[in-house]
Order: sequence, then C-alpha cells, then structure tokens
Amino acid sequence: MGHHYASYEPRARREGVVVDAVLRPATPADVAGLLAFDMTVVVRTPEEWADTIDRSVRGERLLLVADVGGTIAAFAQAHVLEEHPEDRAPAGHYLTGVTVLPEFRRAGLARDLTAARLGWIGQRADEAWYFASAENAASIRLHEQLGFSEVLRAPSIHGVSFEGREGILFRLQTASVHGGANRGG
Ligand SMILES: CC(C)(COP(=O)(O)OP(=O)(O)OC[C@H]1O[C@@H](n2cnc3c(N)ncnc32)[C@H](O)[C@@H]1OP(=O)(O)O)[C@@H](O)C(=O)NCCC(=O)NCCS
Repeated sequence: MGHHYASYEPRARREGVVVDAVLRPATPADVAGLLAFDMTVVVRTPEEWADTIDRSVRGERLLLVADVGGTIAAFAQAHVLEEHPEDRAPAGHYLTGVTVLPEFRRAGLARDLTAARLGWIGQRADEAWYFASAENAASIRLHEQLGFSEVLRAPSIHGVSFEGREGILFRLQTASVHGGANRGG
C-alpha cells in the first residue's frame, strides 16, 4: 500500500544540489521520454501520451515537462475537470499528475512545475484544485507550502479511489497568489 508515493522525509532537502532543468510544454518528440514514467500510478500507452500532448499543444490542457539535458526528469499537468456524477468534488481547473523521476527528487522540480501550472490556471480561473491520497504526505506538504488548503475528504474524488484509503481535496485562490490583476487572456 502506498508504494507509489515518495517516502515522507521532511528534512531530506538536497541543499546546494542544482538540477539544471528547462520547464517547457511537452512536444510530440517527448513521448519516448514520458514512457520512462511507467513506475507511476497512472501508466499510459504511447498513443495516450501522444493524445495528451496533442491536446496540450492545442491549448485545451497543459502538460509541462522538466527537461534536464534531454532527459524528461518530471512532468505535470493542469486541466479542467467537469463535475463528477457521483463524487462531491466540483468542476474546475485541477493540477494532476506531478511526477518526478526518483533520481531527480528533492531538487525543487515539483515545486517549480506547480508554480508554473498555477500561473497557467491563474490566467483562466480564480481557484485551483488538487487532490491526493491522504497517505501521500510528500505531495500534500508540497501543495500546502504553495498555499493549498483542505476542502474535504472522500473515498473517491473525480472517479479516483485511493487503495481503500481517503483522498483529500484541496483548493487555492489563485487570485491571492497572482494578485488578481491582468487576468483574462
Ligand atoms: C511528490 C513528488 C512529486 C515531489 O517531487 P520533488 O521534485 O521531489 O519535490 P520538490 O523538490 O519540488 O519539493 C518541494 C517541497 O515538497 C515537499 N516534499 C517533497 N518531497 C517530499 C518528501 N519525500 N517528504 C517530505 N516532503 C517532501 C517538501 O516540503 C519540499 O520542500 P523542501 O525540499 O524544501 O523540504 C515526488 O516525490 C514524486 O514524483 N512522487 C511520486 C508521484 C506522486 O505521488 N505525485 C503526486 C501525486 S498527487
């Protein structure tokens, strides 16, 4: 149980370690690199990655990658979710699927990818949403540090269940981090 998550290590920050990453939207050439993430919770086929990239290129959603010298070290997404017919979580702009290859963790990549995605959401909406297993303490700490706060707990959120445990839904007012000005395009 919970073996997909990073172990919770609050003091493991790699002081002084600099990972020289370029954060950029994914392109069709990234499918091969993204297939290296088959250790994650959500495993996708090349066709599914290609489709997600295509929708990101068209601006319907966001798939960002952290490119470290040609290696895709991390990816993260943001997109709109409609209201789920059974779950209580609302429709809105969600952060989903931030994942960092183990050897590149604790260098700030997830934080930087999340700040960048919050900028993208902040241009489109006043609130950002995120959910995680209650067991994923590393992910929760990352998002709480960026200002997310808990809204509700449920066994299933947007159709995602959590290996028999609870999930937690979080919200952040993007207007409060981005000043609320200059939005709308
Ligand atoms: C969670 C995850 C994305 C973090 O990626 P990362 O690049 O290592 O995170 P960062 O270096 O940007 O960390 C930013 C902050 O998050 C928190 N954090 C990250 N990993 C942590 C860990 N293992 N234990 C405790 N806190 C952690 C810390 O507060 C950290 O700040 P600090 O390093 O200054 O202490 C990564 O561990 C991962 O890919 N896990 C598996 C996939 C997953 O669970 N994704 C989230 C799905 S909701």
